[in-house]
Amino acid sequence: MAIEKTFVMIKPDGVSRGLIGEVISRFERKGLKLKALKMVRLTREKAEELYSVHKDKPFFNDLVEFVTSGPVVAMILEGDSAIDVVRLMIGATDGRKAAPGTIRGDFALSIQNNIVHASDSKESFEREHKVFFTENDIL
Ligand code: CMP
Repeated sequence: MAIEKTFVMIKPDGVSRGLIGEVISRFERKGLKLKALKMVRLTREKAEELYSVHKDKPFFNDLVEFVTSGPVVAMILEGDSAIDVVRLMIGATDGRKAAPGTIRGDFALSIQNNIVHASDSKESFEREHKVFFTENDIL
């Protein structure tokens, strides 16, 4: 398989519940390498850009309100098959259905407030990481 990068964001619920260390620790223990890391409060414009694929969904406005409600932690992780590995580690979107042992399965009971977001493809990674990082930020 191939070494690739993926983008992860700890959402405002994960930050306010004190789960930053827990989430990053899981990725580090798995063997993924942190290539960039930043805590920021998203503007509405940046949030709409991050979630542009969902702009026609009924939950879009609530989602933008939620991700701009407090600070988030954005990161780029690198490793073998990182995109698929991280998606497996975060679990299903709905925290009520996510498998135990996954981040959402262990910490979320909601479809919206589900602790983390992660890129689902190379194309998503290319768009999403640029909302937060420039090429100089990636170490
Ligand atoms: P995420 O993986 O970041 O991708 C889109 C986000 O929209 C999702 O996690 C949830 O936080 C949020 N969301 C809210 N309602 C829904 C829904 N009905 N289906 C999918 N995602 C939803």
